[in-house]
Amino acid sequence: MQRTIKLLTKLKISSTLIVLVIVFASCVSGQLGKNNSGEFKNGMVVTAHPEASKVGIYILKKGGNAVDAAVAVQFALAVVYPNAGNIGGGGFMVYRSAKGEVNALDFREKAAASASRDMYLDSAGNPVVDKSLFGHLAAGVPGSVAGMVEAHQKYGKLSWREVVQPAIDLAENGFKITKRQSAELNGLHRKLMDININGTAMVNLESTWQENSLLVQTELANTLKLIQQKGKAGFYEGAVADSIVAEMQRGKGLITKEDLKNYRAVWRKPITGSYRGYKIITMPPTSSGGIALIQLLQSVEPYPLKKWGHNSDSTVQVIVEAERRVYADRATHLGDPDFYSVPQKELLDPVYNKRRMANFNWAAATPSDQILAGVIKGKESEETTHFSIVDHEGNAVSITTTLNGSYGSLVVVKGGGFLLNNEMDDFSVKPGAPNMYGLVGGEANAIAPNKRMLSSMTPTIVEKEGKLFMVVGTPGGSTIITSVFQTIINVVDFDMNMQVAVAAKKFHHQWLPDEVYVEKDAIDSLSTQKLEAKGYKIINRGAIGRVDAILKTTWGAYQAGADPRGDDTALGY
Ligand code: GLY
Repeated sequence: MQRTIKLLTKLKISSTLIVLVIVFASCVSGQLGKNNSGEFKNGMVVTAHPEASKVGIYILKKGGNAVDAAVAVQFALAVVYPNAGNIGGGGFMVYRSAKGEVNALDFREKAAASASRDMYLDSAGNPVVDKSLFGHLAAGVPGSVAGMVEAHQKYGKLSWREVVQPAIDLAENGFKITKRQSAELNGLHRKLMDININGTAMVNLESTWQENSLLVQTELANTLKLIQQKGKAGFYEGAVADSIVAEMQRGKGLITKEDLKNYRAVWRKPITGSYRGYKIITMPPTSSGGIALIQLLQSVEPYPLKKWGHNSDSTVQVIVEAERRVYADRATHLGDPDFYSVPQKELLDPVYNKRRMANFNWAAATPSDQILAGVIKGKESEETTHFSIVDHEGNAVSITTTLNGSYGSLVVVKGGGFLLNNEMDDFSVKPGAPNMYGLVGGEANAIAPNKRMLSSMTPTIVEKEGKLFMVVGTPGGSTIITSVFQTIINVVDFDMNMQVAVAAKKFHHQWLPDEVYVEKDAIDSLSTQKLEAKGYKIINRGAIGRVDAILKTTWGAYQAGADPRGDDTALGY
């Protein structure tokens, strides 16, 4: 494996002179990120970690298709990117075959059967903040392993054994951590000690981590071996299930053997919509992301963004007003479709979204309290991860997967060596009442037994004239939707290449709080002044999103965008 990976790294050579020239020109103009190896004809993998990207490209070169590579990457990320890559969490996949068949897989976590609406409230009926965020009670029933088994059974070409093996190798032999990871692991020590008795098998807590330290995870390797041998039963039954249930008993969590055995990933019909002639294929509920993305695109389509320019005051104003209205809808109307009747058709009607923009006033910001009195969930964690893959036939996979918070609930399953999610916090802990952030949550997303919590994850594929055009997605909690949206318009309206579109500075508004969050220098000072004069409250913040995307160029090459905000890495062949 190691030899193969070294070989693959050496083989990062584009196939034609034309591609070489384009890559060289891009490098000279600074358009490729440090971890973007250029354009390729056969296949491409973009993930949040260099080792996971190597695994994906290894599987593609071995003859695997995009789904084989995606399954291998999901498991590899659980090893090399444990703050969001996972087997103890969940996610969504949007798939498009080379022939144009599309599908969506919902492997989101579920509430345990004994979960109840008020489980995070104290005796006075107020939310107990940390209960849904940290420790055993914060975990939903994990969906990732069931999702990968389901995806592989339906579309995989290589054997299950072959696609799980690279992750086992990485866990068993170890891998060299990045500088960013060394700082994170050193910072994690106290929190992990607090939550996990006797420390944890995930990391050696006695170590001081440095860039290139070797991280070996023997217990996780054993868990992956069981998954490799027994498929879904290797995780949801037997020794691993026993370890999860023992963890729950130790920490007063709710997940039982029946919850694990009953977990199913669900195939859903992707949401489709159009924007300036491009077809958008994206994730339906349990994600809010697909509906909200198409609502945003429909809301801004009548406006000449290209003429106004990228992040000009007019462009920002129209987008912020669209975001305000769409996020108000999100809060009110979206939840698990198996439990709540989501008005999908109505929300995706272009006439509806045009009408929603009718009270937009150029002279002044629309105060959010004048927009449909809805309810919105509180602050969402931004620690999720996305990867995009295209194989040599043109099959495409867009997967966003998460533990919710960074390192999830921080609970490491003893004997299993993996982290559990804290996805329960994505429910509205107390519908109709303000939460810790002064926001209120929606009835549609109230906690119920076996229900999936609402998500913002927005794995998306874009077609142009019936052909694959873009594969895109990002982490970022509530900023996921607006980051995917901005990445699409950066290419479609502002003619950016994939890397530039991904790296471009972003901004975000989500109805409540009524503030526009901007990355440093995202909006120039004159535009900022004009917006502030109209009543927009502009707040500087850190990085927004970590988009990993692939674009099919008009000259037939795959062009990647690996987000420079992280260790994200694009590899192709
Ligand atoms: N946990 C983040 C999301 O699902 O949107």
